[in-house]
Amino acid sequence: MSLLSLLTVQTLWLSLGLSGQRFPSWGHYDLCKTQVHGDQGLSWDYMACQPEVTQLTKFLKISLDPPNSTCGESPEMYCTLENPYMCNNECDARTLELSHPPELMLDDEGRVPNTFWQSVSWRQFPEPLVVNLTLSWGKSIELTEDIVITFESGRPEQMVLEKSLDHGHTWQPYQFYAVDCLNSFGMESRKARDLTPASVLDIICTEEYSRGYVWKLEKTVRFEIQARFALFGGPRLSDMASLYSRLDTTKELRDFFTVTDLRLRLLRPATGPTSVDPLNLSKYFYAISNLDIRGRCKCHLHANNCIQENGRLSCQCEHNTTGQDCGSCKNGFHGRPWTAGSYLPIPKGTANVSTLSVFSSQVCQCFGHSMRCSYLLLFRAAVCVSCRHRTRGRHCHLCRGGYHRNPSAQLHHHNVCLDCQCNPDGSLHRRCNDTGYCDCKAGVTGPKCDKCLPGYYWHRGCRARVCDNVLTRCENGGVCEDNGRCLCLPPYTGLLCEKHQCKKGTGACVSQSPQDPSFTHLLLSLPALLITANDHGAL
Ligand SMILES: *[C@@H]1O[C@H](CO)[C@@H](O)[C@H](O)[C@H]1NC(C)=O
Ligand SMILES: *[C@@H]1O[C@H](CO)[C@@H](O)[C@H](O)[C@H]1NC(C)=O
Ligand SMILES: *[C@@H]1O[C@H](CO)[C@@H](O)[C@H](O)[C@H]1NC(C)=O
Ligand SMILES: *[C@@H]1O[C@H](CO)[C@@H](O)[C@H](O)[C@H]1NC(C)=O
Ligand SMILES: *[C@@H]1O[C@H](CO)[C@@H](O)[C@H](O)[C@H]1NC(C)=O
Ligand SMILES: *[C@@H]1O[C@H](CO)[C@@H](O)[C@H](O)[C@H]1NC(C)=O
Repeated sequence: MSLLSLLTVQTLWLSLGLSGQRFPSWGHYDLCKTQVHGDQGLSWDYMACQPEVTQLTKFLKISLDPPNSTCGESPEMYCTLENPYMCNNECDARTLELSHPPELMLDDEGRVPNTFWQSVSWRQFPEPLVVNLTLSWGKSIELTEDIVITFESGRPEQMVLEKSLDHGHTWQPYQFYAVDCLNSFGMESRKARDLTPASVLDIICTEEYSRGYVWKLEKTVRFEIQARFALFGGPRLSDMASLYSRLDTTKELRDFFTVTDLRLRLLRPATGPTSVDPLNLSKYFYAISNLDIRGRCKCHLHANNCIQENGRLSCQCEHNTTGQDCGSCKNGFHGRPWTAGSYLPIPKGTANVSTLSVFSSQVCQCFGHSMRCSYLLLFRAAVCVSCRHRTRGRHCHLCRGGYHRNPSAQLHHHNVCLDCQCNPDGSLHRRCNDTGYCDCKAGVTGPKCDKCLPGYYWHRGCRARVCDNVLTRCENGGVCEDNGRCLCLPPYTGLLCEKHQCKKGTGACVSQSPQDPSFTHLLLSLPALLITANDHGAL
């Protein structure tokens, strides 16, 4: 296990050459903050949460295509470009001192003599000598410094630097390099320092790094990161806040400096001032002595450490995030949608851990009635899911239908919601209001709708009274039963025993009902009935 970092942003500032600023002395480092000795004594410095800048070549895997592109499988003598008579460079893969494997691009520079990877020579001329060199980290990284490739012999006359953001599934060009851009790639030649903030994401072809043979000391090919940063941070990167706010707000810009893999497509080796000499092809080949690629593990500003375990790089995520790049929220922390952290301190940004507001995850308040919450984009809010104890609502703070708030229980209490207990016969539905009152049907009353209003009697709900014995509504000796009907003495019948029962076959059936046509006749002979009939009608 290798610890990539403990320090954070000041490492970047230092490496960007901002040595004039006050930097914390070595001290106790905590998550995204560091204790510093200042004028006012000991205090905390807060900073963006990111691993320190490091030499990334320590963590990469190199592969070659074609795989047999390294020299020496069969021993060979190589000549120099400048002097075709100097042919003392022997390559032999079976002899340690004479072999030039790819690992020699990654060892320490400064050894004498230089160690380098060397390709086979251009034996197949005029077939192009093409080698793809793929550099893989197995993890997204952010470049913070120029990529510098040092060629031991002449620099290639044609080359493309490509990048992948998805572990080599798809590739896109990063920069083209040629002695003649128009001729080789059909592109105008441009320089990185001529880019503007508006054209910073342009993919350019440059002729700056391909003049080969005469410039013996010019061995490097660069991909310029610093010149691009300077478009926002000023010429000496004195305005880091401006650069950081650009990075914070522009995903395309962040992505531009992010890679999981790089690929060097070496398309044509240095050939010197004259045209290719087909009789002596041993002086045409590629040789790289060093790769310098600096940057940091990409953790979306949610970690300041990156570790390598079992050959795999991984961020040590904070802020309740998880994943190799801290690219998602931990289980149970979906209170807010995942977002990247920020470079800037509050109030502009949110690098301050104690008050961080872009943190992707906060458990939502459910008063103990739910263990889960989820973020609903529609409402732009976190809501509790599956509220228990008969609760509902964003925070499980309301009672479900058919239940009402228990006035004597706190919100987190299991008994916070009480059953409405609405009488099913007396109420319109099972819901009640906050104080437990149900909605009653006509004639029904009481908080639970289980009582009748005056003039009504209970029978599967409340019914209007037909009769009662006090008022003796029932006629002709009838008796009122349960306020609902008159029990009549023979031969009377009808609601109030006001009718004579009909005798079958005689036709002698007399009704006292006002609706009956024979009513007028009865009216004359039985005046007493008139009064009761009117009473009936008024019921
Ligand atoms: C590499 O291997 C391929 C296939 O085996 C062969 O055609 C090619 O000539 C080899 N190249 C060199 C430079 O040895
Ligand atoms: C390349 O040219 C030099 C000088 O003419 C000669 O010494 C050397 O043997 C040649 N190499 C090959 C492979 O022909
Ligand atoms: C190198 O990469 C290019 C671009 O993806 C691909 O077309 C080519 O086949 C690869 N291999 C070689 C030997 O060029
Ligand atoms: C992570 O979740 C814990 C538990 O809810 C919470 O206390 C803490 O504040 C969260 N951390 C951040 C940085 O939001
Ligand atoms: C970070 O938050 C703490 C506590 O809220 C506050 O005292 C401190 O001033 C903040 N630091 C910055 C850089 O905003
Ligand atoms: C519930 O209804 C009753 C009866 O209509 C009323 O007195 C009470 O104020 C209502 N309570 C609430 C909280 O609305």
